[in-house]
Amino acid sequence: MGLLDGKVGLVVGIANERSYAWHIANEIVAHGGQCAYSHLPGEKNARRTRRATEKIAPDPVLYECDAGSDEAIEQLFKDYAKDHDRLDFLIHSIAYADRDWLQIGKFADTPRDAFLEAMDISAYTLLAMSAHARPLMAKNGGGSIMAMSYYGAQKVILGYNVMAVAKSCLETSTRYLAAELGVDNIRVNTISGGYLRTLASSAVGGTDDLEERAAEVAPLRRTTAGSDVGKTAVYLASDLSSGVTGENLFVDCGVNIIGA
Ligand SMILES: NC(=O)c1ccc[n+]([C@@H]2O[C@H](COP(=O)([O-])OP(=O)(O)OC[C@H]3O[C@@H](n4cnc5c(N)ncnc54)[C@H](O)[C@@H]3O)[C@@H](O)[C@H]2O)c1
Repeated sequence: MGLLDGKVGLVVGIANERSYAWHIANEIVAHGGQCAYSHLPGEKNARRTRRATEKIAPDPVLYECDAGSDEAIEQLFKDYAKDHDRLDFLIHSIAYADRDWLQIGKFADTPRDAFLEAMDISAYTLLAMSAHARPLMAKNGGGSIMAMSYYGAQKVILGYNVMAVAKSCLETSTRYLAAELGVDNIRVNTISGGYLRTLASSAVGGTDDLEERAAEVAPLRRTTAGSDVGKTAVYLASDLSSGVTGENLFVDCGVNIIGA
């Protein structure tokens, strides 16, 4: 008996096997859940996501979606609903900011369009996806939506800059979504994951030794593994977290509790 037997959902954000979303899907499937996936448009992106998700389970169901487009998000949920009769969980694990503005000393110079793009892709898309997920979840008695945040939303991590602002917005949006969607028994939470070397995190300047520093100060004396976050996602997708909504759960080996 798996914790997630019979549960089916959509995972947005697997670029490769290092992606946090890959670790989340891998643990969800290991605990009996079933995942469909979306990737950015383009043959190369499709191939990359297919190759990664085939390692989780054979014959993955893939859809394409550039979350910067309202039409593409609407189409994603239409396509999903055509193939699936239930949506129990939605994993939002995407973020984007132009790396030019993710460099130490560049925050004040961030141009308006770069600021708005980071907020759009990294935060607004959670609202848009939640709105489409809502009726699909509500018709089967509820569901669990989760998004990925980072400590930089709450304390300054030099270089995280505009992405930090987007993550603060994401965490606050989660609370407002939780308040609104709770009436349909839909829970909305963020996981604040520890630093993990991925395509997205490598765009942030000044993070070269972040992993080593985190391991030194972490109460658990190690860096966060993707599976640490994956297992927390299983908890949030499962009935074990039935009373948890609007929360931000740190999964960072305790780094966030350390002061200087
Ligand atoms: N890696 C870390 O240290 C870390 C820590 C905490 C939180 N996070 C967050 O985890 C999430 C996943 O990032 P990751 O580190 O796994 O990196 P990743 O590069 O593997 O994943 C980022 C994903 O965002 C997708 N994406 C970007 N723009 C998109 C768009 N317009 N439409 C649809 N998808 C788009 C990419 O295709 C990719 O799949 C992000 O929200 C990130 O901020 C990462």
